[in-house]
Amino acid sequence: GVVAKIAPSMLSSDFANLASEANQMLRLGADWLHMDIMDGHFVPNLTIGAPVIESLRKHTTAYLDCHLMVTNPLDYVDPMGKAGASGFTFHVEVSKENWQELVQKIKAKGMRPGVALKPGTPIEEVYPLIEGENPVEMVLVMTVEPGFGGQKFMPEMMEKVRVLRKKYPSLDIEVDGGLGPSTIDVAASAGANCIVAGSSVFGASEPGQVISLLRKSVEE
Ligand code: DX5
Ligand code: ZN
Repeated sequence: GVVAKIAPSMLSSDFANLASEANQMLRLGADWLHMDIMDGHFVPNLTIGAPVIESLRKHTTAYLDCHLMVTNPLDYVDPMGKAGASGFTFHVEVSKENWQELVQKIKAKGMRPGVALKPGTPIEEVYPLIEGENPVEMVLVMTVEPGFGGQKFMPEMMEKVRVLRKKYPSLDIEVDGGLGPSTIDVAASAGANCIVAGSSVFGASEPGQVISLLRKSVEE
C-alpha cells in the first residue's frame, strides 16, 4: 500500500510557542513537521531560517520537512544541515543552473533532497532532477502560489501529480497549499502521498481528527 506522510505546516502555528505546537502535532499523529523557510525575495513574505530550525531541533527528534522558498538555496545548505533539518526541498525555478551541485551538497550534509515547483512551472522541468544519477527523492507540487497559508487549493495542479505518479510509481509526491478534508480525496486519487496541511489542521477544533482523515484518504 501507499505510505502517507502527513506534514502539518508550522506556518499556521503560533511561532511564539513553536516547540509545544510541534510536539502537540506529533502526539496527534503527524509524521513530519513542514517548515516554510521564506526570504522575502523569492516570495513576498518572510518567515524563519536556520536559527529557528536549530532551536526547534532541541525539542524534537521528528523529521523536519523544510521547504525553501528562497532565491539562493545553495547558501542555505550548510546552515540548514547544521541546524538539524531532515528534508531540504528547493525550488526548480531558481536552480536551473546548479541543481546537481545542490543535490550533492544536500546529501553530503545528511539531508534528503526534494524539488518544488510553483503552479506556473511545467512538470517537465523536474524530470531531469528525478532521472539524473544523483536524483532528488521527493517532488513538491505547489497547489497555491507560494508565500502564504490559508489560500485556495488549485485542482488543476492535479494533472501534474497524475503525470508524475504514472511515470514514477514509487516517488514521494508532496502537495502543499489548501489541503484539508474537502480537497484531500482529489489529491490522494491523483497520486500524492505526502500531504502538507496548515490552516485546515491548526484551524480545526479537533486537529487530530483532520490528521487521521488525511492519512485515511491517502492510504485507502
Ligand atoms: C505556502 C506554504 C505552505 C502553507 C500551506 O507558501 O508553502 O506550506 O503553509 O498552508 P495551507 O495548508 O493553509 O494552505
Ligand atoms: Zn510549504
